[in-house]
Amino acid sequence: MTHQSDLIAEDVVAYLKAQEQKSFLRFITCGSVDDGKSTLIGRLLYDSKLIFEDQLAALEADSKKVGTQGQEIDFALLVDGLAAEREQGITIDVAYRFFSTDKRKFIVADTPGHEQYTRNMATGASTADLAVMLVDARKGILQQTRRHSFIVSLLGIRHVVVAINKMDLVGYSEETFAAIERDYRTFAADLGFETITCIPMSALRGDNILKASEDTPWYTGPALLPYLEAIDVDRDRSGAPFRMPVQWVNRPNLDFRGFAGTIASGTVKVGDAIKVLPSAQTSRVKDIVLYHDTLDSAVAGQAVTITLDDEIDISRGDVIATAEEPPEVADQFEAKIIWMADDALLPGRPYIFRAANRQMPGVVTDLKYKINVNTLDHMAAKKLELNEVGVCNISLDAAIAFDPFQDIAEMGAFIIVDRMTNNTVGAGMIDFALRRASNIHWQALDVDKAERAVMKKQKPAILWFTGLSGSGKSTIANLVEKRLHALGRHTYILDGDNVRHGLNKDLGFTDADRVENIRRVGEVAKLMVDAGLMVMTSFISPFRSERRMVRELVEGDEFVEIFIDTPLEVCAERDPKGLYKKAKAGEIKNFTGYDSPYEAPEAPDLHIKTVDQSAEDCAEEIVRYLEDNGYLAAV
Ligand code: ADX
Repeated sequence: MTHQSDLIAEDVVAYLKAQEQKSFLRFITCGSVDDGKSTLIGRLLYDSKLIFEDQLAALEADSKKVGTQGQEIDFALLVDGLAAEREQGITIDVAYRFFSTDKRKFIVADTPGHEQYTRNMATGASTADLAVMLVDARKGILQQTRRHSFIVSLLGIRHVVVAINKMDLVGYSEETFAAIERDYRTFAADLGFETITCIPMSALRGDNILKASEDTPWYTGPALLPYLEAIDVDRDRSGAPFRMPVQWVNRPNLDFRGFAGTIASGTVKVGDAIKVLPSAQTSRVKDIVLYHDTLDSAVAGQAVTITLDDEIDISRGDVIATAEEPPEVADQFEAKIIWMADDALLPGRPYIFRAANRQMPGVVTDLKYKINVNTLDHMAAKKLELNEVGVCNISLDAAIAFDPFQDIAEMGAFIIVDRMTNNTVGAGMIDFALRRASNIHWQALDVDKAERAVMKKQKPAILWFTGLSGSGKSTIANLVEKRLHALGRHTYILDGDNVRHGLNKDLGFTDADRVENIRRVGEVAKLMVDAGLMVMTSFISPFRSERRMVRELVEGDEFVEIFIDTPLEVCAERDPKGLYKKAKAGEIKNFTGYDSPYEAPEAPDLHIKTVDQSAEDCAEEIVRYLEDNGYLAAV
């Protein structure tokens, strides 16, 4: 057990050299504290002497005081103690612990807490080569085991160790072990693991952890640590086709133009024919530079700078790939998504998709189904909640180069970022590109928006009214339209209630339906602006995210957000349609202001308070704004 300290004492240089040359194994442990996860990690850290002296002393003392193991060391205390330390003031969902043996260096991702959430697991597993799946021998395969296995497979981990723990509590029964092994192999048959290794063990007593246990003479397989030291998990990314997403363009002077990035897969050699995606330009590799050296070739995992024979335009996020087998380029995909945010994923809502140094706005156009991670059943769904996994169609604003996640994980994985908060809200894996969009082209028309606007002598725009139900949106929009009409303007009103009689007849009032309602209305309003009209839209439009989406559909000054600000109590008192009364009586569900939220605009172009002024005055104020800001001047 004193493997490294001896060498440190004898020959520091040799020790460091040996460290450098050791291979790395990254693994994740899945299971709950009850399964013995903390004990197992604690034991690995302890046995590999990666615990500091003071921690060890405290551990021994604590074990005697509060431990559950009598005079023995309670390893669970060690891990939980580290966890407590770590959790002071900062929230980290995943802890990475480092330890090493003579043969290998290890990083273990540990997701703390009794409840292991999909989100934490996904974070920990995303860089792991192997998963250690803890199973309590007394309980066998649980739903949790299935869930963890599914997520692990989803994230591209191909090697699993099923640590059948607490064998001491089942009398080291060979039958029990065999039955659990059989169950697991049957369940996991479809998950695509390359290796599944079941090991009977007792983390507490150290059985089959470092060496074969005398209590399991019937077991002929390896003990855990020797197995982890030996297993070859090399995904052999160097054999895959060459891909390097460009991280930055290095141009220190006019004579040098290098493209820097980490090679995601494959091998590149000087002279290789390359293709740059998505632009599809081709060239040859001139030099491969690593710090001050030039290399003949480089492989996956290396961060290098590449120069090319030709001057071609490449920017951050482009992918340099082998010309023989380039990645695909597409803007629509089918993908699996793991949702990690409290606010559900809603199809139609814009998010930022970030993949391989590139980020791009986009939407989930269709949530095909969600997957019950416990049973692997498919279920119809309108949204994806925290920790849920779904299969979706995604549409990005522009095409990106990618490979299916199954082929090259680095080129097929992405994260989803919320546009308002900048938080990571999901992670995804591309299955394949959808071809349909590539057959549709934008038809250029000779008469354009500008010409139509000139003919109508007006500046087309969307006047977007937002506010609670009964706040006065429709009444005021109606008055504004009358005034604009009298001034000879060409106008139209899209009204929430009216549109829901036709175009949006199929939509209700769930968050998902409201997002879709506004998305469609936004697109229609955009067409009307293109037709040269001044469009007034009167929708509650409760979410900032969708109002912003519509704003971004048109040009900067073509969207005027008008907040009709009437307090909820006043709306409820006016109650023009009798809906507040029904909502209060519980007869209407998802009613805005009651059991459905309203996100007031933070910086509307116009903030109209209706409490102290008449609807006419409000309309007047809006028309004045339009005049003052040039909307009514003939173009
Ligand atoms: S939005 O939230 O999707 O923008 P929209 O403006 O189209 O809503 O429709 C709101 C109108 O539908 C309200 O003015 C009201 O007349 C009616 N309505 C019926 N049920 C609800 C509900 N649960 N929440 C809000 N409005 C409702």
